[in-house]
Amino acid sequence: MTLPMTFTDPALAGRVDIYEVGPRDGLQNESGIVPTEVKREFIERLVAAGLKTVEATSFVHPRWVPQLADAEQLVGRLTLDGPTAMPVLVPNERGLDRALEAGVTHIAIFASATETFAQKNLNTTLDRQLAMYEPVVVRAREAGLDVRAYVSMCFGDPWEGAVPVEQVVTTGKQLLDLGASQLSIGDTIGVGTPGHVTALCEAFSRAGVGGGDLAMHFHDTYGQALSNTLAAIENGIVCLDASAGGLGGCPYAESATGNLATEDLVWMLTGLGIEHGVDLQALVETSVWMAGILGKEPASAVVRALR
Ligand code: HMG
Ligand code: MG
Repeated sequence: MTLPMTFTDPALAGRVDIYEVGPRDGLQNESGIVPTEVKREFIERLVAAGLKTVEATSFVHPRWVPQLADAEQLVGRLTLDGPTAMPVLVPNERGLDRALEAGVTHIAIFASATETFAQKNLNTTLDRQLAMYEPVVVRAREAGLDVRAYVSMCFGDPWEGAVPVEQVVTTGKQLLDLGASQLSIGDTIGVGTPGHVTALCEAFSRAGVGGGDLAMHFHDTYGQALSNTLAAIENGIVCLDASAGGLGGCPYAESATGNLATEDLVWMLTGLGIEHGVDLQALVETSVWMAGILGKEPASAVVRALR
């Protein structure tokens, strides 16, 4: 298969971790409901392509996200003790109870940087979201689970407009102080640009949060996801969220389109000589297969070029 020429930049990390969100962020946004067995095969193919973290599903309220209402059945069919971590989203203690019962080892909580999205996505407020998550993190850690925390609407919000950098840092610090092991900074509606990424990284650094504690989660609504990712890597971020084929979006933020495509990320990392551990051909074949099932063109430029 065609691969880019490699030009290594010694100023950048030699290796990054890819946190795959296609089965969760991707499939939560499809209008149709994908059968559980297809979801299982999707995840197993992503694992076989070399991804070391694959976010599998959500234990949110099934009425809020019916696409992922089969979380228990799906997790029951996955290999949870293999080399690939399979985190699940958890919005509250009820979600944690379900996740513990299913035997997961990694969870991800998700908070909002803005008041309006806390209401729209979680039916709560900025203050109450922390109170909601505190017992989740405490109990999950007592049970030996790893807890990642997302912050959404870190760059812009469809109802509130531009989101001040300090507001994002405040929410992010609160989640880390609860005991989350990593903070994923979400550009839910894809409006960020590289200078904004740098400003956020610098603000976190001033607040004592380094690149090693952060991940970045870009949606590609305005075509900036890959540029933003490069800016993140230049700022010392070594964990990047991406979605196979560029699937994705958030049902509670209409202007959110697909995530950064994992294939587009892998192509760029290969060109930069940054290790990622992913078999691009196997990944492209997986996304072509999934696009066939969903009956649509893959959003990823690299998938369309290589298929
Ligand atoms: P609520 O309606 O306020 O819930 O929803 P409640 O606490 O009032 O409870 C009402 C009923 O729901 C109760 O049942 C609960 O037991 C039940 P009843 O006593 O009436 O029989 N319930 C649940 N059942 C199953 N699982 C649960 C659960 N929780 C309560 N977990 C809630 C509040 C948080 C549940 C709801 O707002 C919700 O599920 N929201 C999820 C929205 C979502 O999944 N959005 C997409 C993911 S976020 C995202 O995509 C962004 C991200 O990618 C990063 C980025 O891009 O920025 C992560
Ligand atoms: Mg997202």
